[in-house]
Amino acid sequence: TRVEFLDYEAIVDYGWSLDDDELFRKASHADLGPDAHGRLLVHPDESLLEAAERSGFAWPFSCRGGACANCAVYLAEGKLSQPTDHIMPDDLAERGFRLSCNGYPLTDELSVVFNVKQRPELDDLIL
Ligand code: FES
Repeated sequence: TRVEFLDYEAIVDYGWSLDDDELFRKASHADLGPDAHGRLLVHPDESLLEAAERSGFAWPFSCRGGACANCAVYLAEGKLSQPTDHIMPDDLAERGFRLSCNGYPLTDELSVVFNVKQRPELDDLIL
């Protein structure tokens, strides 16, 4: 699975909106470093977080077990699995929030915003 990723920090810095349809197009045209915006590949049986780490990126995490939301990402495109053992509430999951530590791609392409743990709606989940 090919993943295009974007750091939530960049969205804050540029004053963009998470649900902007043009978000990744804007990111392509902004002068962002390779850690903030780019692409990576997820191998079969690899979680999104594991793939990011194997690719040399330091995405936030803590428990690695679906219990803290530090690893939360926002899914702009594609599908990422959500195992039953996790703390993401249904309403946030419906809006596209997922956990990268136990999320496995279900589509060939994904667009994700990582580092969304600082979003206010995730405050209560961060341990
Ligand atoms: Fe804790 Fe993913 S690292 S839920």
